[in-house]
Amino acid sequence: MASPQILFSVFIMFLYVFGTFVSGQFTKFNKLVLPLEVTGPESAAFGGLLVNGPFTTVTDGRIMKWKGSKIGFVDFAYTSPQRTKELCDGTTNSDMGPICGRPLALSFHPITGLLYIADAYFGLLVVGPGGGLATQLAGGFKFLSGIDVDLLTGNIYFSDVSLTYTIRDTTQPGFKPDSTGRFMRYNPFTRQVSVLLSGLNGGGGPAVSSDGTFVLVPELTGSRISKYWLVGPKANTAEFLLNIANPNKIKRAGRSGEFWVAVSVGFIPPAPLITPKGVRINSNGVVVQTVEFDKEFANKTISLVQEQNGKVYVGSRFTNFIGVYSN
Ligand SMILES: *[C@@H]1O[C@H](CO)[C@@H](O)[C@H](O)[C@H]1NC(C)=O
Repeated sequence: MASPQILFSVFIMFLYVFGTFVSGQFTKFNKLVLPLEVTGPESAAFGGLLVNGPFTTVTDGRIMKWKGSKIGFVDFAYTSPQRTKELCDGTTNSDMGPICGRPLALSFHPITGLLYIADAYFGLLVVGPGGGLATQLAGGFKFLSGIDVDLLTGNIYFSDVSLTYTIRDTTQPGFKPDSTGRFMRYNPFTRQVSVLLSGLNGGGGPAVSSDGTFVLVPELTGSRISKYWLVGPKANTAEFLLNIANPNKIKRAGRSGEFWVAVSVGFIPPAPLITPKGVRINSNGVVVQTVEFDKEFANKTISLVQEQNGKVYVGSRFTNFIGVYSN
């Protein structure tokens, strides 16, 4: 007969395994709904204890801020000096992007209180805690898509999709993606942009590891993720990490050393049915968890899976809400 101690530890083990299984499945669902006629919350950033949020970017060019369920989302910032509310608010016309702005990714620096923005047309920008018109830090890009601040150095890592096509071109008949995407760094002290990797099968958003030793770089159309080393013997080189279907933005997960990847299986090349998922990976590229979003984001591509205070926030170009999954 097993001793009481063994039975007890088996019982504890059972509780542990069963408990984490049940608590980690993100089965509760909620929506943070955008105002009427506003769509496409593709990205999100949280501002820490005092600022809250989330902030999000939407199709009509605004950056909006969540003010709680009573108020909802309100205007926070914008990227184009020519943008007017009359012309742009609520527009889904992709020809308006060069006038209204088309922010696609956000990253907040909690120490300086600055919100960094990657805009498809207006490049790399920054805006202070008061919001309003953002200041351009670097321009001349065709199609920026991702951004992440290294919280330890203040360096900004960002990516563009292509040297040849813009976001508008991607919806044209016969469009074919190319391999001219880049991964770059902006140094806020020297104000210099350095190209770290080029020839990428573009798109998605990079994420710096919480210890600042590497950056994960996705290739949305290339269906893989690379690891770019910042320090150590392999510094300034990239290595293949894993193949994964159409990875868009990568974000640090709640557990240190882990990341969430927004995955849209069947996006490119186009399949009859798109399967949106959140895939949690560790720093070695091992998949730790997969959460399916196909009930709430049926047949839609997603751009963002971001964990905040034990909840997972999901953003898509094709919804009027940010999905919030919790336990
Ligand atoms: C999924 O979306 C695509 C593109 O809009 C459409 O052609 C297809 O019929 C959809 N599939 C299902 C199963 O709804």
